[in-house]
Amino acid sequence: MDAAMRSELRAALALQLAWGADEALEEVAQDRLAEPPPRRAAPAVRAPAAPHAAAPTPAIGAVARAEAVAEASETLAALRAALAAFDGCALRDTATSLVFADGDPSAPVMLIGEGPGAEEDREGLPFVGPSGRLLDRMLASIGLSRRSGGVYITNVLPWRPPGNRNPTDAEVALCLPFLRRHIALARPRLVVLLGGVPARGLLGAREGITRLRGRWRDLDVPGLDAPIPTLPTLHPAYLLRNPGAKRDAWNDLLSLRRRLDSTAPQMRQN
Ligand code: URA
Repeated sequence: MDAAMRSELRAALALQLAWGADEALEEVAQDRLAEPPPRRAAPAVRAPAAPHAAAPTPAIGAVARAEAVAEASETLAALRAALAAFDGCALRDTATSLVFADGDPSAPVMLIGEGPGAEEDREGLPFVGPSGRLLDRMLASIGLSRRSGGVYITNVLPWRPPGNRNPTDAEVALCLPFLRRHIALARPRLVVLLGGVPARGLLGAREGITRLRGRWRDLDVPGLDAPIPTLPTLHPAYLLRNPGAKRDAWNDLLSLRRRLDSTAPQMRQN
């Protein structure tokens, strides 16, 4: 290969990276410009439908399996091990790390984001990239930090979607049983949902996060006797792109601080 071709290939690779194609998923590259194979003519007569009901799709089976293994986990360590062993979600195959949680599991506030990005995937910890650094500054402004027992942080998805694409509804549905169990085991006094994915997933909300934010809701979690007061707010990545929205985020932080100061700690049983 001559120098000109090498530099052309380097430029093509740089462009792929700029477009977010930063995961090698297969050993052999696919030639998407190749001629498609000739189509086969449709059979003249279709086979009759099977007399019995169709088997459940793999996704439905996988959700039931996720529910069963999540429910059977009696501790956070067991839940983490169950997630690491769960092969029902293809995101596990493309991610580098399982990103379970950070901070103090017995903290009064549990923060729930969407899913790991590139830095989180490399380090195996949530919110350690640019939006995590903003999140840490936001928390510090109301006297909270993941290092001093104030907050516990996790995500809806424990694995990074390749190229940071948005998670599909099926991927979220597969991960929700683990997240609900995670909340039940951590038993936080308050929950904060960062962005639309956790708000839609946990609250079943249909509105966008800019409408949902700032209003406390009750979150029912299987295994807990009482609902947890829950505050949807803007995701730090959104704030990095829309600095004008920081005023709303600041009001939400103040609301969180007030609620934390006014709610008495409950007796913990785990
Ligand atoms: N965004 C998220 O929602 N979670 C992370 O852990 C990092 C970025």
